[in-house]
Amino acid sequence: MADTPQVGTPVHELDTPILLLDLNAFERNIGRMAAFFAGKSTVDLRPHAKSHKCPQIARRQIESGAVGITCAKVSEAEVMAEAGIEDILVANEVVGPTKVQRLAELATHCHLMVAVDDAANIDELSSACQKRGASLRVLVEIDIGMARCGVQPGPHALALAQRIVDVPNLTFMGLQGYEGHLVGIVDAQERAAKVCAAMGLLQETKTLLEMRGLPVAIVSGGGTGTYDMSSSVPPMNEIQAGSYVFMDTKYIQVRPEFESSLTVLTTVLSRPTPERIIVDAGMKAMTHEFGWPRPIDVPGTSVVGLSEEHGKLEATEPEAVLLKPGDKTCFMPSHCCTTVNLHDDLYVVRDGVLVDVWPIAARGCAQ
Ligand SMILES: Cc1ncc(COP(=O)(O)O)c(C=O)c1O
Repeated sequence: MADTPQVGTPVHELDTPILLLDLNAFERNIGRMAAFFAGKSTVDLRPHAKSHKCPQIARRQIESGAVGITCAKVSEAEVMAEAGIEDILVANEVVGPTKVQRLAELATHCHLMVAVDDAANIDELSSACQKRGASLRVLVEIDIGMARCGVQPGPHALALAQRIVDVPNLTFMGLQGYEGHLVGIVDAQERAAKVCAAMGLLQETKTLLEMRGLPVAIVSGGGTGTYDMSSSVPPMNEIQAGSYVFMDTKYIQVRPEFESSLTVLTTVLSRPTPERIIVDAGMKAMTHEFGWPRPIDVPGTSVVGLSEEHGKLEATEPEAVLLKPGDKTCFMPSHCCTTVNLHDDLYVVRDGVLVDVWPIAARGCAQ
């Protein structure tokens, strides 16, 4: 087993492949998002921890003003609660006896909230919480166009909200509507117009519920691509943005105000031809569902393929590219959230030197 490298080690001496976190860029990202929400009295940030899966980062987000965190899965929420995060939204449906019991147990340890879109699920959550003596806050998830989970806006949501109010140990808190189909639209005007229309669906449903005497305290959703747009029109008042802490090749073109802080450090294994450069990171170190990772310190090269443990780069002007076996080179992930989930640790670097190693403690927490 390799020893954990010493604080103070220069980046180019670290063994690879590893995930590097540029602390300066990361802190600017956290600060920029915190400043945006500090200026908004009616909207809070509840960042999505699925992007980082790292309690050290969740703590920094809360220290800079976030009201709590969002998780995708119960197991992720368990890791965060264990690390002392007190206010957690599981922004997903939690279904079936094993998971529901885990959720009810977790609700006895932290201030927990969950999404629902089904009446039978509300009943199973309620009885599990009754058995544990737990209380659970609940959001009704509305499909505002993404066509994933969520009931259609309007009367279906009303029926579920009423059901939550009627059963013991659950508290109806409001609505969740995630506009995930809009977060990546590059044209900002088009994105804003579509977000505004999607927020209209939430607003109609909120009005309907309130007319029937069901107060809607929280309306939660939003991502890095939409955090400012979704929070500038009613009714969204909690924003779940996650990727802004790291960014990636997909998001960097949508949100230029945030910086790339996450890279994969690799070593050149082979340069079998002048044009072809092979690094020691393939699809087990960098994901590619949003495109190839981008070489960031070697102009004139691009990734043309990933196998399990090899990344293949092509140099368009080979004589200008000096990489040789043993050299280190970095890539910006095309999707930060899934790339993080491939690694055990974040190697935290400031000004080219290792300053800390943060475990990605919820890495692989898919249950
Ligand atoms: C439920 C939910 N909320 C919020 C987000 C936003 O995350 P990001 O900031 O990475 O777009 C996601 C992304 O997948 C999500 O699934």
